[in-house]
Amino acid sequence: MSDTDYLKSLLKAHPDFPKKGIVFLDIFPILRDPVAFETLITHFVYHLTSKTIPSLPTKKVDVVVGLDARGFLLGPIIAMRLGAAFVPVRKKGKLPGECVTAAYEKEYGIDSFEMQADAIKPGQSVIVVDDLIATGGSAKAAGELVAKLGGKVHEYLFIIELTFLKAASKLDAPLYSIVQSD
Ligand code: ADE
Repeated sequence: MSDTDYLKSLLKAHPDFPKKGIVFLDIFPILRDPVAFETLITHFVYHLTSKTIPSLPTKKVDVVVGLDARGFLLGPIIAMRLGAAFVPVRKKGKLPGECVTAAYEKEYGIDSFEMQADAIKPGQSVIVVDDLIATGGSAKAAGELVAKLGGKVHEYLFIIELTFLKAASKLDAPLYSIVQSD
């Protein structure tokens, strides 16, 4: 079985969670199984180190940015494997020190993300990671924060992409997902 089929088989769909009409795709069964979790992280690291991302021919990733909250479960491990820094993007008001802020649209109203202003240096190569991309609003906001600090996003990385929401068209760099769901 391919990595993709193996990881896909572990995702659990929860109809009508957190509200009616939404099929919530739960990644936690992957993290519960150490072999599956290892397969997931190795898949991402292999993708980033063995295939040339067109804008990053040197394959040198300086920073892995993880999105609040499930991106925090993946980003630090990928960053350590790559010898890169891990930088969190958090909901507004959670990070100490000077921060940059970007607004994004949620299902109801607007929310804001923040990143510490000294977390990325101008010219650094950045990968943005989260578990799932839906509309792409939060990933786009993360890309704006990286750009504000002078970094460059080379790829947005997810376990799952809800392809029918067409998030890729909103982003300023390629999107890579292991599982596509429509
Ligand atoms: N975040 C947004 N949509 C989601 C979904 N369908 N499953 C899990 N997380 C999500």
